Amino acid sequence: MRRPIIAGNWKMFKTRGETSAFFQGLIPQIQAVTHCDIVVAPPFTALSTAVDEAARTAVKISAQDVYWEKEGAFTGQVSVKMLREVGCTYTIIGHSERRQYFGETDETVHKKTVAAVGGGLKAIVCVGELLAERDAGQAVDVVRRQVCNGLAGLTGPDLSNIIVAYEPVWAIGTGRTATPEIAAEMHAAIRKTFAEIYNGAAADALRILYGGSVKPDNISALMKKEDIDGALVGGASLDPASFAAIIKY
Ligand code: PGA
Repeated sequence: MRRPIIAGNWKMFKTRGETSAFFQGLIPQIQAVTHCDIVVAPPFTALSTAVDEAARTAVKISAQDVYWEKEGAFTGQVSVKMLREVGCTYTIIGHSERRQYFGETDETVHKKTVAAVGGGLKAIVCVGELLAERDAGQAVDVVRRQVCNGLAGLTGPDLSNIIVAYEPVWAIGTGRTATPEIAAEMHAAIRKTFAEIYNGAAADALRILYGGSVKPDNISALMKKEDIDGALVGGASLDPASFAAIIKY
């Protein structure tokens, strides 16, 4: 009953020219796809090119980050309204690279999420534990805290615009995918947490993506798990053929 989503996070890759070439490679391969939502998140500078290239296709465009204030003296930041104007319908929030390298916290994730969904974007909110936290047996506690602190206090209609991406940090860009069992176990814990902070219906409807070294050869085993509703794909989303193969899992 939950519609799957396959989302690509390009990180700091691709110029506008490379973005056009990507879509020209991707679109013919996914014309007939109807079983899932498809999202691509280019860097800010390529958003408008991506929106143009994806026009009249099923592909939706996402930002990789957003700021919570409406406007003002915030050098380097981009608002929800700016993203909507350029044609974005989604934004990623709280990616582990932003948490690790750019000081993102559960508190900033919460502010950004409230601003994003309040302003009409869908938010792909990332959570996930470090390797040391998993080794110490704290993985579920860490992710529960991230979900509670980052996603509490939203109002009913906003909940349907929240997507959670579980991305164990030890699996990102390492080639070390979580097993479908490890991923599914955490997805179930996230859904349970959502039921506790909201209600069973909201938890049942919540789409939870897995991210971390998703590739064409491991996507179908992940997607067979009931609680895994899609994937947030980094490296393998940069190439039209591998991203298309993942979309067609
Ligand atoms: P990866 O990145 O697929 O390259 O591991 C995933 C992500 O960071 O979203």
